[in-house]
Amino acid sequence: MGSLDGRVAIVTGAGQGLGAAEARALAAAGARVVLNDLPGPALDAVVERIRAAGGEAAACPGDVADWAGGEALVTTAVERFGGLDILVNNAGVLRDRMVFSMSEQEWDTVIRVHLRGHFVTTRFATAYWRDRSKADGRPAYARIVNTASEAFLLGSAGQPNYAAAKGGIVSLTLATARGCARYGVRANAICPRARTAMTGDLMGPAPDGPDPMAPERVAPLVVHLAGPAGERITGEVFVVHSDVVAVLGPPTVRAAFHAATGHWTAAELDAALGTLFAEEPPRPGFVCEETLPLAAATFGEPS
Ligand SMILES: NC(=O)c1ccc[n+]([C@@H]2O[C@H](COP(=O)([O-])OP(=O)(O)OC[C@H]3O[C@@H](n4cnc5c(N)ncnc54)[C@H](O)[C@@H]3O)[C@@H](O)[C@H]2O)c1
Repeated sequence: MGSLDGRVAIVTGAGQGLGAAEARALAAAGARVVLNDLPGPALDAVVERIRAAGGEAAACPGDVADWAGGEALVTTAVERFGGLDILVNNAGVLRDRMVFSMSEQEWDTVIRVHLRGHFVTTRFATAYWRDRSKADGRPAYARIVNTASEAFLLGSAGQPNYAAAKGGIVSLTLATARGCARYGVRANAICPRARTAMTGDLMGPAPDGPDPMAPERVAPLVVHLAGPAGERITGEVFVVHSDVVAVLGPPTVRAAFHAATGHWTAAELDAALGTLFAEEPPRPGFVCEETLPLAAATFGEPS
């Protein structure tokens, strides 16, 4: 018995890299999977590999950010496999550039594929789960695993489009978790690291023997969140790679100031906030660098 026997999953961007590894792992756990990617032989090859291993898979190629394509993914899951239980949003692209050099197209492409791509599938999947929950008179089995990135935690300087899209995906995850909880939806986000086409230049070639940064190291967390244990997990953000799964804490209030007279003047703020931001030169405060020491296996031991 697999933990996902009888379940139906959609995985976007499943033609290679993390999406392909996640789709294979979901299928190995018993799920029937609908795989999306841009049309091409890569997607068909992943479908064939899952079938050759004894799994059930169907391709639904197309641009993940396309409205009709998102609807077609859910329709394919329902018509081909009888329902939908799990949505793994993973498709992505990079168009790295400093913000002052970035073109309109580079911005729009990344925001479209990542943020709109997550929204469109979520829109149709949650509508399906809401209907199913109302028809059944109880919460649906409904899992969403979204794909963010540590770029959103760090404000990746050369990726303003990507960092913004990934921050948006975390917010979308929280809004979905809150807005759809009553229908059974559990929505979480992962910030993975893996040696793929997207990161090959950064990480370099795989070592001889087992690769600690293989996409297969990320996939078990996706299976976990998609499975029975995921019932108790929602609105969480994970960092996952190699041998690490880290659960992020929420942003906290670092300091709060109250105006003595009930409202602030700029001069009073100068005095009150001045000590908090006394550091020279000023550096971004709203970043999370605690995940960086987890990076040894990715970029080598920190010097
Ligand atoms: N690899 C990492 O270390 C890392 C780190 C942080 C986040 N991520 C995220 O993980 C996800 C997967 O990345 P990966 O490393 O496997 O990259 P990848 O380039 O190997 O795979 C991305 C897949 O998305 C597909 N895709 C691109 N545009 C699409 C579209 N419009 N419609 C449908 N499919 C589309 C591509 O064809 C490709 O198969 C991405 O969202 C990425 O941002 C990866």
